[in-house]
Amino acid sequence: MLVVTPEFKADSPHRYAQLREHGPVHRARLTSGVEAWIVVGYDAARTALTHPDLLKDPAPAEDALARIGFTAHRAGVGLGGNMLESDPPTHTRLRRLVAGAFSPRRTQDLAPRVRQIADELLDAMREHDEVDLVAAYTEPLPITVICELLGVPEGAERGQFRGWSSLALSPPSEQQRAATASLIGYLAELVARKRARPGDDLLSALAQEENAEDGRLTREELIGTAALLVIAGHDTTVNLIGNAVVALLRQPGQAELLRARPELIQNAVEEFLRYDPSVEQSSFRYAHADLDLDGVRITKGDVVVVALGSASRDAPQQQGGAPADRLDVARAVPRHLAFGHGIHHCLGAPLARLEAATAIGKLLRRFPHLRATGPVAEIPWIPGGMMRGPRSLPVRLT
Ligand code: HEM
Repeated sequence: MLVVTPEFKADSPHRYAQLREHGPVHRARLTSGVEAWIVVGYDAARTALTHPDLLKDPAPAEDALARIGFTAHRAGVGLGGNMLESDPPTHTRLRRLVAGAFSPRRTQDLAPRVRQIADELLDAMREHDEVDLVAAYTEPLPITVICELLGVPEGAERGQFRGWSSLALSPPSEQQRAATASLIGYLAELVARKRARPGDDLLSALAQEENAEDGRLTREELIGTAALLVIAGHDTTVNLIGNAVVALLRQPGQAELLRARPELIQNAVEEFLRYDPSVEQSSFRYAHADLDLDGVRITKGDVVVVALGSASRDAPQQQGGAPADRLDVARAVPRHLAFGHGIHHCLGAPLARLEAATAIGKLLRRFPHLRATGPVAEIPWIPGGMMRGPRSLPVRLT
């Protein structure tokens, strides 16, 4: 059985490539300790993500999960009702409530503010020869954007969001429970304030929905939705930008090409999403019946996850592009599953694309001599969970 260790994750694109040679679906023990089927092939991934018997309701897996201490927070993020952990019709109702706020048009309205935030962070970096790009840039940009969108006031809590969120997505532990409780507690209090004195922000709008007489949103769902948006809305993008920078440090010719042809940036972001996406693993699906996945027998109650990065590298070859294991920012149409597939396809994809294109484009222009301070191979990676990304990214700017 494959065991996903921190070492595996640090080198996962290569390890998954080896695994794909032996088939599209494998048995694995994840960093959380959960035993699951991991889907590494493109076609099987698309099937799994839309299969009518692979659902979010963990009921059939409850016993197996209980044995490793997962039931207490329902194996998922444990944030109460939210769309990512729901099946229709609840999923449809919860997603519809916030979908408008993340539409491509509404996202475009945010573009000037995203550019401004990036410029301010880059200005501040100018005073240094060397910085940790994660702390100085890739982290504060998405956090500021999602906090402004939700209406989280400036203050100490914004600084805590990253820590709380990464812990909330970690395997169960005292620390994990404490971080989740802090995040939920903070959001519950904030929502109460928004209800009393609404502002022009998404949380205020959602708080009004809870007030609505037809009860469109329960209190638990309101807090769960807010927490999902905080978590899904920044850690993902922080790591995508980080992974993109690591890839460009490894292949400086690609950075040169992007500097020379800035109009390639949108295409480049699709290629970064294909090449090394931040959400390496989908959330869990639970088999509600026995089923066949590309020739592999899955039994009712089994857990299934999709290795999204692996599946993307397995996508049918693009015409005229470099081999799938090379970054090629000019690749014709990079095809990928970085945002998932089916009804849970990422709601924030337009926002993630906007932030990544702005952040990477501006960084390359502002610092033409950007390079790693040490060997790129020694950059430390996040150890576990669904995400893949550099834990810190020490770079020289001048
Ligand atoms: C769902 C990836 C940024 C909000 C997802 C899923 C993936 C994903 C793979 C589906 C998970 C599954 O099916 O198990 C990413 C990546 C991002 C990113 C790679 C950045 C590079 C964002 C942002 C937001 C966001 C900025 C903004 C709020 C959501 C939500 C869902 C979701 C709400 C749940 C959708 C549903 O269940 O219907 N994302 N995401 N994501 N994402 Fe993103």
